[in-house]
Amino acid sequence: MEAVPLIRTSSVGGSKRSLLSKSGFGQTESKTVLWKTFIVRSLFLLLTILCSVSVGWFFAGGKFIVEFPQTSPFIVSRTKDLPSPVQLEDGKKAPELVQEQVILNENDKSDGIDYDATPEHCVRQKDRLYFLKTHKTASSVIENILYRYGLRTDKTFAFPSNGALIFNYRKPFAKKMMLPLPDRSRPDILQQHTRYSKEVADLFPKSDSYRITILRDPGTLFPSLFKYFPRNPPFKQAKTVENFVSSPEKYSRAGGADFVTRNSMTFQMGFDNFLKTLPSDDEMAEIISAVDNEFDLVLLSEYLPQSLILLRHLLCMTWSDIATMSKNISQRKHFEEDTKEKIRRWQNVDTRVYEAANMTFWRKVKEFGEEKMTAEMAILEKMNTENAEKCVKGYRPVKELAVEFRDYEPPGLTIEGIELKEGYTDVCYNIALSPFSLAIDILDKQCQSSSFLRKYMHMEDRPKRFGTDCQND
Ligand SMILES: *[C@@H]1O[C@H](CO)[C@@H](O)[C@H](O)[C@H]1NC(C)=O
Ligand SMILES: *[C@@H]1O[C@H](CO)[C@@H](O)[C@H](O)[C@H]1NC(C)=O
Repeated sequence: MEAVPLIRTSSVGGSKRSLLSKSGFGQTESKTVLWKTFIVRSLFLLLTILCSVSVGWFFAGGKFIVEFPQTSPFIVSRTKDLPSPVQLEDGKKAPELVQEQVILNENDKSDGIDYDATPEHCVRQKDRLYFLKTHKTASSVIENILYRYGLRTDKTFAFPSNGALIFNYRKPFAKKMMLPLPDRSRPDILQQHTRYSKEVADLFPKSDSYRITILRDPGTLFPSLFKYFPRNPPFKQAKTVENFVSSPEKYSRAGGADFVTRNSMTFQMGFDNFLKTLPSDDEMAEIISAVDNEFDLVLLSEYLPQSLILLRHLLCMTWSDIATMSKNISQRKHFEEDTKEKIRRWQNVDTRVYEAANMTFWRKVKEFGEEKMTAEMAILEKMNTENAEKCVKGYRPVKELAVEFRDYEPPGLTIEGIELKEGYTDVCYNIALSPFSLAIDILDKQCQSSSFLRKYMHMEDRPKRFGTDCQND
């Protein structure tokens, strides 16, 4: 049922721009290509196994005890109103990390952690990946991580057919929305805002693809959406979150069935957003089961460090792949518990979806091992702190930063970006880049045109970092 033929997008016929860079080969040679791919992948797999074995041997080498300081907010989102995990819920703190013992190689005179190491014995089962990027859930952090991971491991990415960054996420995803890759192969990674659909499932079948997403407690997600989409008529009319949730039915009549008004996560997962109707019991059961059945891993923004560690083990990523750089304390409006309760009641389906995802998440943490999780969180924190010390001069509104670091700033909001210190590392540079810059780099690398994005973000002059041997433009 999951066997999937090679996808041909509708706009492929007669496309002249999409000649592959080096050889410009056509269909007759595609068998050779398949063989080449097969050989390269086999070599890669062999190498991965050899690496895991040697890493295992390395870690088994000796004992070396490191004490880690207490935790501080170390993984933080890139936009101003997104939560840092430690501050997320009032009065609720992340577990304290005290005196975790980590076994390291005694021969290593440095701190002993190889940030370029993948997890011991890790073998990735599937090569392809769909990430359902959801709104206001710290999904940009995951987006940045996946761009960096894909660049490092030479993955191809799906981009919208107009060469922009984001797909039309109000419509169910369809293959024809994609820009065909020069060799017309299926992309390895789709990781943008999309609305989950049957076509996503066909393009990224469970047999060869991981599907992941990230969700957030509706009690804090909704205020974030409210702030980020001030032009949504119901929000505009209500003016404040408190007003809105005191009579949501009244305000939601103000306009369209905009998905941000109600159950945005459910909507993005491909279902109705149930603005005016209630799901039947069957529908509800189907939605809840989609959390587990359609997705291999559902990350939670409240528990970003744990989420990233699960992600690292799923995809066999290096520590550096999951590095993030902390931002300074974000000013978030405080909401009364009563307001949050009203929000959760309004976000009726999302709340159920989140609760289901939360249960699965903690079951996975338990399976992973709670002690191991605490130890790995300490390593992650340590690396992120080191990176921040090495690379971060400060945080500034994106308008004041060089153009390649400028994130999209919605009207009326201030988004901050990272100002790098002299001597920053490659990892830090890629973390600090805007998603536009990373998308441009990847489009260039895939020999697709980046001119739309360059023009849109005023980066016509940005030198090509990749794909200088491409034959198109
Ligand atoms: C973050 O804010 C605190 C308190 O305002 C300040 O002491 C600290 O230097 C800031 N850190 C950075 C990296 O800007
Ligand atoms: C998520 O699960 C944890 C652990 O079981 C629990 O403490 C927490 O209250 C749950 N949160 C929600 C919103 O269900």
